[in-house]
Amino acid sequence: MATKITVDGVVKIFGDEPDGEALDMLHAGKSKDEIRERTDHVVGVHSANFEVEEGEIFVVMGLSGSGKSTLIRCVNRLVEPTGGTVTVDGVDITALNERELQAFRRDKTGMVFQHFALFPHQDVLTNVAFPLKVKGMDLVSREEAAAKALALVGLDGYERSHPSQLSGGMQQRVGLARALATEPDILLMDEAFSALDPLIRRQMQDELMDIQAGMDQRNTILFITHDLNEALRIGDRVCIMKDGAIHQIGTPGDILMRPETDYVAEFVQDVDQGRVLLVESIQEEAASITGDATIGAALEAMDRAGSNEAFVTDGTGAPSTVVTRSAAESGREGGQESAAQVARPAEQVASDTMLAKVYQLCGSGLPVAVVDGQGALVGAVQPLEVLAELGRVESISERLEEMKNRGGES
Ligand SMILES: Nc1ncnc2c1ncn2[C@@H]1O[C@H](COP(=O)(O)OP(=O)(O)OP(=O)(O)O)[C@@H](O)[C@H]1O
Ligand SMILES: [Mg+2]
Repeated sequence: MATKITVDGVVKIFGDEPDGEALDMLHAGKSKDEIRERTDHVVGVHSANFEVEEGEIFVVMGLSGSGKSTLIRCVNRLVEPTGGTVTVDGVDITALNERELQAFRRDKTGMVFQHFALFPHQDVLTNVAFPLKVKGMDLVSREEAAAKALALVGLDGYERSHPSQLSGGMQQRVGLARALATEPDILLMDEAFSALDPLIRRQMQDELMDIQAGMDQRNTILFITHDLNEALRIGDRVCIMKDGAIHQIGTPGDILMRPETDYVAEFVQDVDQGRVLLVESIQEEAASITGDATIGAALEAMDRAGSNEAFVTDGTGAPSTVVTRSAAESGREGGQESAAQVARPAEQVASDTMLAKVYQLCGSGLPVAVVDGQGALVGAVQPLEVLAELGRVESISERLEEMKNRGGES
């Protein structure tokens, strides 16, 4: 995958003289509070370094005032960075002149906010088509594109409604459609779902992920939230900020299982990992054999895959039963020849299933087949691995409990 966005040493200080004493103090390692007290300047973001891959959902998570909005706005220079560079597709955005910057914003980016203004006296279609009008697109083409975007967010049929006739969730969808209508390379979403009630919010998260998965050319999405569950749920990677600084960047699994600072560890203690960890995080290679395979062939397939089981699959790759190494070996000792004779029915799950849901399939103690969207075998998960992963939640919470009991020392 290609790198889409590179944020290199970005600093933002708010105040009259951002690159004066405040910046010196920052370089000298002074805290945000110290700098504010002495210079009356506010550190919005400091030393932000990261890359976002093309097609990635990169989530910036942190409490109010941690610098999320400032950071995301530095990417399209709605906030002018005090220092550092932002590069998009190899172009240094911080070096663009005003005209080039406008073209960049118009042609490459779309933004969705928590509170965004829809034009109240225009219908939904006209609202969604608005950025295309700004781009100079003719009426017919832009309404066609707007209708397509509305369909993407599940609002077909509401083209001629007015914003006031829609619920908050639906209005938020209109906002998303408006950003999608221009088919932006980069979607900047600042607390876009935060005002929605939990159920609708989850629906919107699912929809965003579906839209992303269904695109030929995936958008790159920078998504801001102060909700860790949301971050872990939709992020390919999550960046955790505090006081303008980045504490950790990692996959949801990294953040949950390998928090790098106490701050991150404290955040994750509330999360039920099984609900956010996916099967694919512990999925292993699986051996596949045909229904007429011999026990010898089954053992060979296991050796090749480096696994201790082989799934019997049909012509489409769909698994039905499983032969474990121990069953194969004892079968052979008992004089049996056919793998089918020692096979047992296999449970199966999709690789994007939450780990917690797999738990109940592990009762037999047999490995569970992992299948793709077409139902073909792509791997296996071991019951003990599932338990160990779920168990790690406990150990993290226990560690945090201990820290707390010792009086908060780390
Ligand atoms: N225009 C501004 N002038 C002065 N200070 C600002 C300005 N914008 C942001 N700040 C300060 O910069 C810091 C980061 O603010 P920012 O809005 O980026 O936080 P945030 O993480 O987006 O918070 P929230 O979750 O509340 O939206 C805060 O201390 C804020 O007070
Ligand atoms: Mg904000």
